Amino acid sequence: MALRDILILPDKRLRLVSHPVDTIDRDVKTLVDDMFETMYRVRGIGLAAVQVGVPKRVVTLDVARRENEEEQQNPRVFINPQVVWSSDELSVYEEGCLSIPEINEDVERPAQVKIRYLDLDGKPQEADAEGLFATCIQHEIDHLNGILFIDHISKLKRDRIVKKFTKAAKRAREDA
Ligand code: NI
Repeated sequence: MALRDILILPDKRLRLVSHPVDTIDRDVKTLVDDMFETMYRVRGIGLAAVQVGVPKRVVTLDVARRENEEEQQNPRVFINPQVVWSSDELSVYEEGCLSIPEINEDVERPAQVKIRYLDLDGKPQEADAEGLFATCIQHEIDHLNGILFIDHISKLKRDRIVKKFTKAAKRAREDA
């Protein structure tokens, strides 16, 4: 396993639309291992492959960790995940993103969703998601479509955040 670098806003690669995975080969399995290692290292609860610069439709998630820390890990992998149903009922969560560090904003999304995906053995699976799981999987599927959680907030707030990160990236380049 190896740590991978997480792309940070305004990296244009975060806007790529990820490709479906055709075969779950060794590369995909290594990618998944690396994504978990990277996600756990930075105490994240979800990561999309595109965030480590690999535009494939692969998501790692562990929403158990937030409450239970080390004790009760529940690592889950979603390959080619899609929302096949979403509730009319909406819920609001304060979201963050490993690609937009230290920014948290309320985002409204369907409270419940049904998703279809492949597991690591390539078997089709379905899951009903609600609560944090529902929010998180929708956030990650957005990543696969080049969408960031700041796209769901007001343009005013979004522009301010993008500006801040663009400046920081410029400063970092100048210092390098
Ligand atoms: Ni994110």
